[in-house]
Amino acid sequence: MERGHFDGLFLADTLGVSDVHGGCTDAAIRYATGTPRHDPMLLVPAMAAVTEHLGFGITGNLTYEAPYLFARRLSTLDHLTNGRMGWNIVTGYMQAAAQAMGAGAIKGHDTRYDVAEEFMALMYQLWEGSWEDGSVVLDHANDTFADPTRVHRIHHDGTYWKLDAIHMVEPSPQRTPVLYQAGSSGRGRDFAAGHAECVFLTGKTVPMVAPVIADIKARAVARGRASDDVLCFSLATVVVAETDALAELKLVDFQRYVSVAGALSILSTNSGIDFSTYRPDDELPRIRGDAGVHSIVDAFTVGDPSKIWTVRGIAEASALGGRGPLFVGSPQTVADGLIDWVTQTGSDGLNLSAATCPGCFTDFVDLVVPELQARSRYKTEYQPGTLREKLRGGAGAHLPASHPAEHARRGERASHSAKAAERAFSTE
Ligand SMILES: Cc1cc2nc3c(=O)[nH]c(=O)nc-3n(C[C@H](O)[C@H](O)[C@H](O)COP(=O)(O)O)c2cc1C
Repeated sequence: MERGHFDGLFLADTLGVSDVHGGCTDAAIRYATGTPRHDPMLLVPAMAAVTEHLGFGITGNLTYEAPYLFARRLSTLDHLTNGRMGWNIVTGYMQAAAQAMGAGAIKGHDTRYDVAEEFMALMYQLWEGSWEDGSVVLDHANDTFADPTRVHRIHHDGTYWKLDAIHMVEPSPQRTPVLYQAGSSGRGRDFAAGHAECVFLTGKTVPMVAPVIADIKARAVARGRASDDVLCFSLATVVVAETDALAELKLVDFQRYVSVAGALSILSTNSGIDFSTYRPDDELPRIRGDAGVHSIVDAFTVGDPSKIWTVRGIAEASALGGRGPLFVGSPQTVADGLIDWVTQTGSDGLNLSAATCPGCFTDFVDLVVPELQARSRYKTEYQPGTLREKLRGGAGAHLPASHPAEHARRGERASHSAKAAERAFSTE
């Protein structure tokens, strides 16, 4: 990926073995769908050691993380990677995760976002407000690592957490890691517009993706942020070979390995619909009458309404390409398709999923990247600096002033300088 100048590597994560398909965990275990899942954070240091520029977007589920420990782990990783960390903020959608974590029933959708708002406020305090810029003085002559008057205790007495502590780690290159999010509901889009710097979206067609991107950016502007403060990355899968004919053959080969049962297991987990209760050739409208319309199913039916979708049909369609478009062809064909897609959807970039790993990424780097570079549609070298500086064209390693995290810094600093002024006055 670094050879191909990818901005970052995204590691998804869920907790708990899914038991939606067939009401048990068999399918998830048999087909290895979401199981096993290793801790994304622990995978980063090994990859960071052999790369210099590649960013790492790890998924962290704030519903189950202890804020103080989570902030410390991310700060540690941001130090280890020289500022290449991103955090995909998720609240979790799986009942199995709630049970695994001893939380009983999963919290309601909007409550999860209430929790998320409080968690973020706490993270900003720890990452931005606890240690001032310049607090680490490394003054050998005066036997001083950091100036205690510039390191602040965070007091938080909220609905979901209480905390009274100084952040355990001195400021990392980015302080707050680059914030990724993928909310699609109204509440999710508002959260993205308020907090996210990068948003992941899915959708098989331009009409499904373009309005969502426009809406998220408009919501961000309404909150006083610039539309470019929120970069939108839509999902895409590429199957490429030297010629169109060879790429079609490669696709046919890939299709031989598709597991319809495995795909249904993933779809069941993601949608909450138990697809094992339907026959493969059942039409989807039957399902849509059941436990409510789910956006996962809509991704297919709304995306291509001219088609009669069957259970087997969405399993096959999602097995290669997931909930995003599939681009198949020569480098020229794929480049044409990707440029059209990005232009028409208003995407700032792509979240490239792989039909095979690492084969699809190697193919992309070897064949598509040079073609895009030749058309001046892809960078030829990395920007220096942190992940945030690379993504934002060198605008700065820290969150911009228009981001709500700035309040955590200003507030802390204002009260600190007021105290310092008081002290200076009384000393006089
Ligand atoms: C590309 C993409 C990746 C996602 N990755 C994860 C993930 O790793 N873990 C997770 O729990 N949720 C993940 N989600 C789900 C989102 O966090 C979110 O719950 C979902 O998009 C529904 O949005 P809503 O909560 O606003 O309804 C992902 C969503 C998308 C589109």
